[in-house]
Amino acid sequence: MCGIVGYIGNSRALDILLKGMKRLEYRGYDSAGIAVRNHDEIETEKRKGRVDDLELDGLFDGNIGIGHTRWATHGKPSDENSHPFFDCTGSLAIVHNGIIDNFVTLKEELEMAGHTFTSQTDSEVIAHMVEEYYSGDLLDAVTKTVSRLKGSYAIVVMHRDHQELIASRNQSPLVVGMGTEENLVASDVPALLDHTNEVKYLMDGDIVRITPDAVFIRDATGREVDRETKVIKWTVEDAEKGGFEHFMLKEIHEQPKAIHESLLGRLVEFDEVDFARYDIRHINIVSCGTSYHAGLVGKYIIESIAGIPCMLDLASEYRYSSPPDIYPFTVFISQSGETADTIGAAKEARRRGCKTLGITNVLDSSLTREVDEVIYTQAGPEIGVAATKTFTTQLIVLYLMAIELGLQRGKLLIEQAETYRNELRKLPRRVEVLLNDTEEIQDISKRVLANAEDIFFVGRNINYPVALEGALKLKEIAYIHAAGYPAGELKHGPFALLTRETPVVAICVKDSTYEKMLGNIGEIAARESPLIGVGQEDHELEKLCDEMVHIPDIPPLFSPVLINVVLQLFAYYTAYNLGRSIDKPRNLAKSVTVE
Ligand code: F6R
Repeated sequence: MCGIVGYIGNSRALDILLKGMKRLEYRGYDSAGIAVRNHDEIETEKRKGRVDDLELDGLFDGNIGIGHTRWATHGKPSDENSHPFFDCTGSLAIVHNGIIDNFVTLKEELEMAGHTFTSQTDSEVIAHMVEEYYSGDLLDAVTKTVSRLKGSYAIVVMHRDHQELIASRNQSPLVVGMGTEENLVASDVPALLDHTNEVKYLMDGDIVRITPDAVFIRDATGREVDRETKVIKWTVEDAEKGGFEHFMLKEIHEQPKAIHESLLGRLVEFDEVDFARYDIRHINIVSCGTSYHAGLVGKYIIESIAGIPCMLDLASEYRYSSPPDIYPFTVFISQSGETADTIGAAKEARRRGCKTLGITNVLDSSLTREVDEVIYTQAGPEIGVAATKTFTTQLIVLYLMAIELGLQRGKLLIEQAETYRNELRKLPRRVEVLLNDTEEIQDISKRVLANAEDIFFVGRNINYPVALEGALKLKEIAYIHAAGYPAGELKHGPFALLTRETPVVAICVKDSTYEKMLGNIGEIAARESPLIGVGQEDHELEKLCDEMVHIPDIPPLFSPVLINVVLQLFAYYTAYNLGRSIDKPRNLAKSVTVE
């Protein structure tokens, strides 16, 4: 977590850093800080709180600087634990994203050598270590420092005597933006887009020296290398709120476009991965949180379309499990591509001898380097901490993949594949129809959900994971306890919790479980819990429910996409009515780069 940014050029660094930091606040926002080189001195301001809380009157006129927005790992959020960190003399400053696993040993060593620490963080050792190795050559001192670090890091270092920034990464993202007579470096592209759309993604172990007109990169072996320059197609506006009150609402409303983009060029032929190269008898999907729920929906999709048995693992558990005696094709789903648990699991799958595929939204993210194949979702930038359009586009990729695998295995006839593809083609329009009329959802959120302390979400079959996801989203942004359940399981225990004060959101579509689901809903109704039905126009369902949200007609296999949009909106409007910090919920961050 944490967002870092560095600037060197002819403009006022402060303004550029602040803008960049605000665009990176989705990565962490419990403290913020900057350091700017002003006439051979480094001025700094850092404190607990958001970027807007920084007190910046007066100084800060230089045109080299670094900035940081923090998500605390070692050391609670406080002014002292905020970045940037300095060496003992105040000559150099660093910002860091990641975790230095061996910081205790390094700190002891540095203290023995006479360095004085001012924080409880792991990051501060980097500043003192660079000081220890510095003898006039900053690049050399940083190179020696990173060779001592164990763990994950993206760092930017500046020195009051140097017209340069030195940056390096290992297992934390870092991207260099190349402008005109100015260059930048940041954890993510939105922080650079005001200045350039030409970027270089750094690889693990890279060390880079950045001046206003040059970018010089060395790889982990010390060899001078170049990294491919990529042109980012999306704009600053894509990464801004565009008239919506929150990024989350904007991103929910962007889903028709995101689905369209994810389908573009893939409906005639989906050939990004040559699945025929692999002997795919079993699939194991490994991921976390919302991406895990996408994987669970994917299990139903793949098993029913392609007939391939699918298993699921939470990435945080995978590494510690005993490998079964098979080598499933292992699929890692991660919107950020930076989730430490998922990356760790991908490494472990390789070690076990499995062939691997990553599904991610972020170009060149760390996950892409740990897998044999990559498929990108095309959701565009997602800034709200709660995953919305990235989840939906993960499902789209899973549908496309299942169709491709079904065709290859001869499980699917061409005509049937075309029927499925037609359903995918219709999805953007169907989501749009749903989004055009959200009044009922807003009303139920305000009247029923926002007043509850506990809420159940139930579904069956392919919509059971959608119930899990609905509950997660509500917990995450509305701070209301919610549980997702397969509807048939409530009677095995949770029924004891049903009261008139416990709303139940019941997902009901006309699949093979329809009759049973109506039975389950009837049982819930008998316990007098307020029942909110989500499904198509359906007289039977409406008779049982107190409230009803309708979705457009759709075959059950594709219904998760629409139902999930309803549940996203329930979470959003419930949180809105409770005045929650929707885009930046407490204690969370967009990419979880620690285990
Ligand atoms: C919830 C959410 C998280 C992520 C999880 C995995 O809205 O976003 O549960 O899904 O942290 O993140 P990725 O997909 O980046 O690996």
